[in-house]
Amino acid sequence: MGYNLLKGKRGIIFGALDESSIAWKVAEKCFEEGATFTLTNAPIAMRMGAINQLAEKCKTEIIPADATIVEDLEKLIDQSIEKLGGKIDFILHSIGMSPNVRKNKPYTDLSYDFLMKTLDVSAVSFHKVIQSAYKKDAMNEWGSIVGLTYIAAQRAFPSYSDMADAKATLESIARSFGYHYGKLRKVRINTVSQSPTWTTAGSGVKGFDAFFKYANTLSPLGNASAEDCANYCVFLFSDLSRMITMQNLFHDGGFSSTGVSEEIMEMMSDGKEDSKI
Ligand SMILES: NC(=O)c1ccc[n+]([C@@H]2O[C@H](COP(=O)([O-])OP(=O)(O)OC[C@H]3O[C@@H](n4cnc5c(N)ncnc54)[C@H](O)[C@@H]3O)[C@@H](O)[C@H]2O)c1
Repeated sequence: MGYNLLKGKRGIIFGALDESSIAWKVAEKCFEEGATFTLTNAPIAMRMGAINQLAEKCKTEIIPADATIVEDLEKLIDQSIEKLGGKIDFILHSIGMSPNVRKNKPYTDLSYDFLMKTLDVSAVSFHKVIQSAYKKDAMNEWGSIVGLTYIAAQRAFPSYSDMADAKATLESIARSFGYHYGKLRKVRINTVSQSPTWTTAGSGVKGFDAFFKYANTLSPLGNASAEDCANYCVFLFSDLSRMITMQNLFHDGGFSSTGVSEEIMEMMSDGKEDSKI
C-alpha cells in the first residue's frame, strides 16, 4: 500500500536491468506512490528484455539511451516530457560499470582505456544527465535528482578498484551541480550511499560475498536491501525532503559509523586474553 507521496510527479528512471536491480525496485515503489515516469537503459541492456515486464507493470514506456551519449540523453528528456505531459520532477541515476572490475584488473595494474570508460559510464554520465536537463530547463522547481554510490568513495575497499574513483567523482558532481541547479530552479541533487546489494553490478565485484557478509555483520541494523533503498529514494523524490541537497547520504544500516561490532570481535578473538598490545 502506498501513501501517494509522488502523486502527480513525473520522473525518469535509469538502470533497471532485471528484477534484482535497485532501479527496478525504485520504479515499483514510485509507481506504487502514484508517480508516472519513463524507464531507460543502454540499448545493449534492452536485449535482455526483462525491462519490458517492468514497463508493463508500471504502465510506462522504455526509451533507450546510452548515458554516455549526450544526444541520446537530450532525446530521452524531450520524449519523456512529451510522453509524460510536462516537465520532470525526479531523476534516478542508477548506473555503474567498470571494465577493469569486469576483467579482474587489480587497482595496481589498471588499463587506462578501461579507466576512462569506468569514469564516463559511472560518473561523468551523471553530469551529462544533469547538464542535459539543466540546459533544456526540463525540471520543475523543487525537483530531485538522485545518484547511487558506495562508501568506497571515502574508505579503501581493495577489490572495488577504479569504481571507488568513479564514485568519489559522482559524489562531487552531486555537490557541485547541486549548487547551480539549486540556484536556478531549487532542484535538489543528492547521492545515496547504499549497502552491498545482490545485483548484476554488485556481484561483479571480486569477493562480493565477503563484502556483503562483512557489512552485514558490522552494521547494527544489518545491510539495507534494494527495497529499503527504493523507499529512501521515494522519500528523496517527495516533498518531505525538499531542503536536502548536495549531500552524500549513507543508507547502510549504520555501517559508516561503526568501528567494530561485537560479532566481528568474537570472530577475531582466539579466546586468549593477553596484554601484549
Ligand atoms: N549492488 C551494490 O552492492 C551497490 C552498492 C552501492 C551502490 N550501487 C550502485 O547502484 C547503482 C545500480 O547498480 P545495481 O547494483 O542495481 O546493478 P545493475 O547491474 O542492476 O544496474 C547497473 C545498470 O547500469 C546500466 N548501465 C551500464 N552502462 C550504461 C550506459 N552506458 N548507459 C545507461 N545505462 C548503463 C546497466 O544496464 C544496468 O541497468 C550503480 O551505480 C551501483 O554502483 C550498487
